[in-house]
Amino acid sequence: MKILRWLALWWHHFFLLWTTVNAQTRYSIQEELKQGSVVGNLAKDLGLGLSDIYDRKLRVASEAGKQYFSVDPGKGELVVNDRIDREALCGQSASCVLPLQVVIEDPLQLHRIEVEIRDINDNSPRFLSNELSLNIAESAAVGTRFPLESASDPDVGSNSLKSYTLSKNECCSLRIKEIEGGKTVPELVLEKPLDRERKTVHKILLTALDGGNPVRSGTTQITISVLDINDNFPVFEKNLYKVSLGEKSIQGTVVIQPKASDADEGLNGEITFSFGSRTPDSVLSVFDINPSTGEIILKGELDYETAKSYDIDVTAKDKGSPQMEGHCRVQVDITDFNDNVPEIVFTSQPKPLREDAPSGTVVALISARDLDSADNGKVTLQITKGPPFALKPSFSNSYALVTSGTLDRERFSEYNIEITATDSGSPPLTSKKSVLVTITDVNDNAPVFTQKIYDVYLKENGVPGSILYSVSASDLDFGENAKVSYSILDSKVQDVSVSSYVYINSDNGSIYSMHSFDYEKLKVFQIQVQAKDQGSPSLSSNATVHVFILDQNDNAPAVIYPSSAAMGSLSHQRMPRSAKAGHLVTKVTAVDADSGHNAWISYRLAEATDSLFTVNLYTGEVRTKRAVSEQDDSSQRLLIEIKDDGEPIQSSTVTVSIILEDGLHEPILDLRHKAAEPSKKTGRITLYLILSLASVSVLSLVTFLILAVKCIRNSRSSNTCCMRRTDSDDYKNPNRNLQIQLNTDGPIKYVEVLGGDMLSQSQSFRSCMSPMSEYSDFTLIKPSSTTDFKEVISVLDASLPDSTWTFESQQVRTKSEGNSVKLYP
Ligand SMILES: *[C@@H]1O[C@H](CO)[C@@H](O)[C@H](O)[C@H]1NC(C)=O
Ligand SMILES: *[C@@H]1O[C@H](CO)[C@@H](O)[C@H](O)[C@H]1NC(C)=O
Repeated sequence: MKILRWLALWWHHFFLLWTTVNAQTRYSIQEELKQGSVVGNLAKDLGLGLSDIYDRKLRVASEAGKQYFSVDPGKGELVVNDRIDREALCGQSASCVLPLQVVIEDPLQLHRIEVEIRDINDNSPRFLSNELSLNIAESAAVGTRFPLESASDPDVGSNSLKSYTLSKNECCSLRIKEIEGGKTVPELVLEKPLDRERKTVHKILLTALDGGNPVRSGTTQITISVLDINDNFPVFEKNLYKVSLGEKSIQGTVVIQPKASDADEGLNGEITFSFGSRTPDSVLSVFDINPSTGEIILKGELDYETAKSYDIDVTAKDKGSPQMEGHCRVQVDITDFNDNVPEIVFTSQPKPLREDAPSGTVVALISARDLDSADNGKVTLQITKGPPFALKPSFSNSYALVTSGTLDRERFSEYNIEITATDSGSPPLTSKKSVLVTITDVNDNAPVFTQKIYDVYLKENGVPGSILYSVSASDLDFGENAKVSYSILDSKVQDVSVSSYVYINSDNGSIYSMHSFDYEKLKVFQIQVQAKDQGSPSLSSNATVHVFILDQNDNAPAVIYPSSAAMGSLSHQRMPRSAKAGHLVTKVTAVDADSGHNAWISYRLAEATDSLFTVNLYTGEVRTKRAVSEQDDSSQRLLIEIKDDGEPIQSSTVTVSIILEDGLHEPILDLRHKAAEPSKKTGRITLYLILSLASVSVLSLVTFLILAVKCIRNSRSSNTCCMRRTDSDDYKNPNRNLQIQLNTDGPIKYVEVLGGDMLSQSQSFRSCMSPMSEYSDFTLIKPSSTTDFKEVISVLDASLPDSTWTFESQQVRTKSEGNSVKLYP
């Protein structure tokens, strides 16, 4: 400062000198000096002494009126009296000079001096307002300019306004535009697009700077409000909404509410919701949308089986202009409800099944269907009945109905199988279906006769061509397989083919006789009958028909002794007159070709000369009743009637002549003599007789043994040996009774095997040895049929399989004769 002042003084003095020369004094000071600051030594510059200042009353007067300066009287210095503001005095003019008048009295002298006021940087640039508002649409293009307010600085020269700066910001830059007169105007230039949604307001500080030293500045706040335009579309929170909805949901249910927002404001941000423009009717009929809230509401009925899910396009639109829209997708998955009954479908209809179909044969293919899904659609099939059918699961929901056991059409010709389908829903639904499976016949049953063995009793002397018997066989099969035809298998009866005896009606099994049978020739024969069905291959079975010829009383008793040769002429017997009562005169022997009762012969004296003789009813023995008297004729004639027990009775007669002789003693001798006489012939006969007798004895022994064994066997089981089953007379109940009768008169005369039947007509198989007399002759009458005796026994045995046999030894009727062995079943 001192240096400055010194410099100033120096310059002042130099100037003073110069102004003195030019008679004008000029000072130069800075504005805003403090009061009392010295401008210049006025006295000295005017050439006045210090005393003159006071004495001559030196003073300065301002031309402008206001006294900025005064004169220090002591030193004669011009000092600053008041604040000097250059800007107030001179405004914006570049130079500022204050003219002063210096007045000195005694003598009055006027001096003119000038004080130049120099500028200092005492003013900052200033804006008119501290704040500046700009409204810029966010759509404003980059590069758009917005003029700003200029600042002003009262200082001049280098102290005046020099430049502008902008605070750091995101959008704009500053540009200075020069207008006429060298003035400058700042302009805001948009450097980046504005986004209201990102930043609604930008605040930027504009600073104006002067060129002084130090630099002074002024600021103004620029507030940029970004105006919204509809540049945002509504945005959904999610692109895809997923929701599941029960199939049975009621109408009015809010399905989902997709949320959308729009960054814009006002109408630009006001959203309305709607379904997409290409939404199908299937969606529109089921769902509704609330335009203001976006709630999707169920308005129709859901059916999982029709639509498992819905894809809904939802559009959100704002109300700006242009209208912007956003989209989202709503996927509504329908969850299944078990509302569909499972269905049974026959993939192949059941075919009739052969009854011999093996286990596992496929009857039908069945599948199960359920429109529901998952467990609700999982179907299991069952059949109620067990074997012989089963369900075999194949793939997925398919089953094969197969046989699981053996079939038998004869037991069950058809099956009604009930199939139940059940799904796995909760609660499960079921349905049922019945299927009829018919079983077709296979020829697996042979015809079966009603009996394995038929016993047919046929009277002899029948009419040829009459029905003998009807056998019948049934077949359990069906149709042709059950159609039975009958035939007779060829066999031989008495060396003749059986077909010449009988024939059979192949359709109904009636057997016809082709002969009239003679019991005396043929007592029994058997026929093998075959029943055959028409199946392929055909099956057959056999039955045996035993035909027993029943004896008819068709033979009259034939007298054997007295010999038939002598029958016509009288046979003469001799007896001594001395014979006592009971003397055996002779014995009439007759045989009957019939059997049983028909062959039971009884003898009766029909006519007699005298009542001297009696004839034994059963044996035919002729004995004397009393001793012969003198009155008795020597020639007696007896007519003996021989009757059988048949129906009708057959009889024959024989006439016996008896000559009473005196002196005739022993008729036996006579007989012996008689027997010895035909020596050669009788010898051979005797041999035969002995052989026959022996064989008969053996036979009877064997018979006894068989009977004994049977008796013992039966006695073990029933204890009824030797006891009659019924207490009634065996003749009245001859049914199923079998007799073996041994008639003996001393030696065995004949063995008779009798089998009774219902008609009380005994069938007999007789081996009869009938002696002519008790002494010598007997005739062996062979069984009249060719049937072997043993065979007959076995036939009878077989025909009476379950009978209990009783064995009885019985004394027959007369005192001396007939041991009969009877067997009662
Ligand atoms: C079998 O058929 C014949 C002839 O048609 C008939 O005479 C007979 O009575 C029939 N037999 C039976 C058991 O029906
Ligand atoms: C029936 O008898 C015939 C002849 O004896 C025989 O060939 C056939 O095998 C028999 N049939 C049956 C089923 O016994």
